[in-house]
This record gives sequence, structure tokens and C-alpha cells, in this order.
Amino acid sequence: GGARLWGGRFAGGPAEALARLSVSVQFDWRLAPYDLAASRAHAGVLARAGLLTADELGRMLAALDDLEAACASGQFRPTIEDEDVHTALERGLLERLGALGGKLRAGRSRNDQVATDLRLYLRDRARGIAERLVELAEALVEQAGRHLDTPMPGMTHLQHAQPVSFAHHLLAHVHPLLRDLDRLRDWDARAAICPLGAGALAGSSLPLDPVRVARELGFNAPAENSIDAVGDRDFVAEFLFVTALVGVHLSRLGEEVVLWTSQEFGWVELDDSFATGSSIMPQKKNADIAELARGKAGRLIGGLVTLLTMLKGLPLAYDRDMQEDKEPAFDAVDTLDTVLPALSGMIHTMTVRVDRLVAAAPQGYTLATEIADWLVRRGVPFREAHEVTGQLVALCVTRDCALADVSDDDLSMVSEHLEPDVREVLSVRSALAARTTPGSTGPGPVADQLAVVDAKLAGW
Ligand code: ARG
Repeated sequence: GGARLWGGRFAGGPAEALARLSVSVQFDWRLAPYDLAASRAHAGVLARAGLLTADELGRMLAALDDLEAACASGQFRPTIEDEDVHTALERGLLERLGALGGKLRAGRSRNDQVATDLRLYLRDRARGIAERLVELAEALVEQAGRHLDTPMPGMTHLQHAQPVSFAHHLLAHVHPLLRDLDRLRDWDARAAICPLGAGALAGSSLPLDPVRVARELGFNAPAENSIDAVGDRDFVAEFLFVTALVGVHLSRLGEEVVLWTSQEFGWVELDDSFATGSSIMPQKKNADIAELARGKAGRLIGGLVTLLTMLKGLPLAYDRDMQEDKEPAFDAVDTLDTVLPALSGMIHTMTVRVDRLVAAAPQGYTLATEIADWLVRRGVPFREAHEVTGQLVALCVTRDCALADVSDDDLSMVSEHLEPDVREVLSVRSALAARTTPGSTGPGPVADQLAVVDAKLAGW
């Protein structure tokens, strides 16, 4: 290795086993554009501090531009000897500038650099994740708009509970995504603190300008404590919590699509381009996207646990353990970047089998609560209404008939309060129409909800 950043006090090069453990450039190279941006800002600071002449600054910035282009084209590549992204880029600078390239390291350390790079990277990529979340939410909203009048059996414990509208159920998957978008925005405000200027941990004896550097790099402010600046990875932990929670939301949606596309439910049919087949069974059409969304939640949750576990025993400030922060963060970004567009396409193109949903909605005595509420409106205490309706359901179970099919005699046999016009509430349509309070599943409140959700998404 030629360009180690720390050779001076060492008698020889590192052992092969150390180098192999220590190297991070194979994964941290993706920070290169952010490291170069921070280097440009730092070069300006050194010039204003009188530590680079105007001519040196010009050559430095030109070399950084040239290096950036060479990185982008792949003409400049890190080698495994480079240890990390910072080492590789300093080598690129030295190749272009000779000794002048060695001036840029004044007043900074890889400790404040890497914390800055990772904040820049995550803030950038979080915006992309937010855009993809909006696209998924829009696909769900679009389907909801088509199914304002489609009923389904709402479930608790995966048992038929009460009829709801399919639109309402789809929108119930949108609200968690809206909260995730809020979380990303609010995370960004806390992540917008610039560590540069903290150096290794103590700040710098050189006249740096952290306020200006923070502003140039799009941060709100420099860090207030140089030890915290290099030792803090809350921003990674919070990011990984948000991505893990997104993973959980996508997994729950995926699980439902797996159920809905099963033979037994048959509520949804996936478009051929968003479903997969079997290598042996010619008839198969599988919801692999939904399953992978469910499966990937595991690695997103794992990333959060990895990071928290790595951090929990670390003394302040920087410890090399912290190099382990990057792979879970990168993996979370890559995972959501691939899962979200596939899920959006799957939801956007799926066909809802309205006839199956209409048929399923009243099954399993989902209208029983309507009878109990009807009795309550006639002054029967709910406790008694519940009991009476339960007895009616039990009778229907023995007769293997629907609630509406019981004879007038049977009704009055179960309870003196049960009169024939109770049948008026025994339709899915009337059960939905009766639910008019805000947030409930009736057509009015669902239309209102759709408008509010639409407006929120349009605002992103
Ligand atoms: N590759 C290191 C990391 O990702 C950069 C910081 C190394 N600093 C140090 N003093 N060894 O954390």
C-alpha cells in the first residue's frame, strides 16, 4: 500500500490480516461524491484562513472537479490498498496535484469527514425513499378511488368482523406511509447538523469556519460539541428505525396481498408482469413481490438492531466500531429503493375481483353488530342486545342460514324485541351507509378521507 494516511510513526506496513479486516473502501466508496463536496467546502475554508493561496485554491478545486469526473466515469477507481474512501480520494488528489494535494487534510480528520459524508448521503437518499413512498401511496389511493363502492369483510383476528369498504381498507395502508413520510422529514431536520470542523474530536487550532461550511453543504448549523459531532450516530439509528418501520408497513401490506391472491380468498388478481411462475408447476402465479416485501422487513429490522448493538458500549468519541454503521444504512437504502417501485407497480396494476368481495362481505355473520345496534336504538341495553344477537347467530349456525333468512317466528322466539323490520339493517350497503361519523367506513367519510389523503400526497 502506498498512500496510507497514518504511516509516519510505524516501522512497517500493516499485516495482511489487519488490512483485510480494516478495509472499508469496498462499501464506503459510494460516499465519494459527498466526500468530494465536503472537500470543496473545506478547501474554501483553508483559502480564507490564508492556508491556501488563491492559485492553490484554484488548482485544488480544478483537481477535485477532475477527480469527481474520473470517479463518475469509472476512470478513477479505489483499490483494496486504499483502506477507505477518504484514503482513495487523497491518493487521487496527490496523483493530480503532487504535494499540494497533501494540504487539504489540514484541520480535518476522517472522523469528522465520515460523519459528514454519511449525513450528506443519507439526507440525499432519504429524499429518494420519500418519493418512492409517495408513489406507493398514490398507487393505493388510485385503487381506493376505484373501489369506493366495493365492500369487503373487514377482519379482526383474521376472522370476518364487520363489512368495510375496500377503499377504506386500502387507505388504512396509506396512513402509515404518510406517517413514515412525516418521520423522514422530521428526521432530516435533526440530521441537518454538520460535524465538519470537529476534527478528530477536539475542534481545530486552525481558523476554520464551521458555520459557513455547514451552510455550503446544505446543513442548518454546525455541531455544537466536537466530541458529540464525531461520536454521534443517532442520525443513523433514527434513519434505520424509520426504514425498519417502513419495512414493517410494507410487510403487512405484502402479507395481505399474499392472502388476497390465494385461491381461498381470490380477491385480487396480479398483473402478469408483476407476478412470477413456478419452474415445475405450469399453472402457478405467485405474489413474489409481496413475499419479498414481507421478507425484506427482516433485514431492515436487523440493520437497526446491528447499529444499536454496535453503539451501546462505545466510549466517546470516535471508535473504529463505528465503521460498521455504513453497511446497514446502505442496505436499508438499497432495499427500499428496489422494494418500493416493485410494490407500487404491483398495486397499480392489480385487478380487484369485486364480485368475490361483494359475496364475501356478509359472510360469517358480519352484519350481527347491525342487529345489536338496532336493538340499542330501541332502548335495549347493549349488554342484552349483544346476548340476544348472539343467540340469533347460534340459531343461524344450526340452521346453516343467513341472518336475514330467519323467519318472523324464529325472531320473536329469540327475543320479544326482534321484530321483522330489523331486516332493514341486514344489508352490507345499509351497514356501510349507516357509518357516517368522521373516520368511519361509510361512503361519505371515506370520500372525505380520500380527498384529505390526496391533498397531503400532492403536497409532497
Ligand atoms: N473508515 C472509517 C469509518 O468508516 C473512517 C474513519 C476512520 N478514522 C480513524 N481514525 N481510523 O469509520
